[in-house]
Amino acid sequence: MREGYEGTGPGAITPDGCAVELYSRLPVGDEPDVIAAAVPAGARILELGSGVGRVTHALLERGFTVTAVDESAPMLERVRGARTICGPIEELELGETFDVVLLASFLVHTGDTEVRRGMLRTCARHVAQGGCVLIQREGEDYHENVPRERKDPSGFTVRIASSEPAVDGVNAVRAEYEFPDAVWTQTFRARPLTKEQFEDALLEAGLKVDRYLTEDRIWVRAVATV
Ligand SMILES: C[S@@+](CC[C@H](N)C(=O)[O-])C[C@H]1O[C@@H](n2cnc3c(N)ncnc32)[C@H](O)[C@@H]1O
Repeated sequence: MREGYEGTGPGAITPDGCAVELYSRLPVGDEPDVIAAAVPAGARILELGSGVGRVTHALLERGFTVTAVDESAPMLERVRGARTICGPIEELELGETFDVVLLASFLVHTGDTEVRRGMLRTCARHVAQGGCVLIQREGEDYHENVPRERKDPSGFTVRIASSEPAVDGVNAVRAEYEFPDAVWTQTFRARPLTKEQFEDALLEAGLKVDRYLTEDRIWVRAVATV
């Protein structure tokens, strides 16, 4: 487990505190719609931090080709129909490029600045000329509007229970997922980034915002600067 990260609940837990069984249960949201609206039909997608394939499977159903990357083998074992690669995103060197590189799940807010730099460089290194990088950022009140909870119609409650300053501009966030038969928690480190800080981090990696895809500016389409 990474320092500052923790997960509790049944089944295998990844180094960043995610539970494999939990992610197998979570339904997909509007992610595939946002992605499909921003990229060409049938695009080749490199999905970074795919987990069990919650979003991967929906993208495959829509006719995209997906290469799924995750550092957790137990997560990747549940991915069906996609090529899988197990390893840290920040060290990925496939020697090939993709129409679309996807960095979702707020991974760009990872607490460790060097890891974030590595992840964004991986995005830049693997995007084809004329292709794009899709990034999912935290909403602007992500750390202020706490505690907050949402009851999902499928029968579970997800709660961001707290977000407290931990070290050096990084918050310790605690998420809770309550199902009728099981509870999972995840504690993780997240570095809030203003729009300007986010855009500077992209530029440093050779990427720039092409456009914000959603009104809340959570989803971003980025392209190479050269
Ligand atoms: C919150 S889960 C989200 C999974 C998936 N994107 C989804 O939405 O269902 C984050 C995933 O990213 C993976 N991950 C986090 N940091 C990583 C890193 N540095 N390199 C590779 N995988 C990473 C974890 O193992 C986990 O499966």
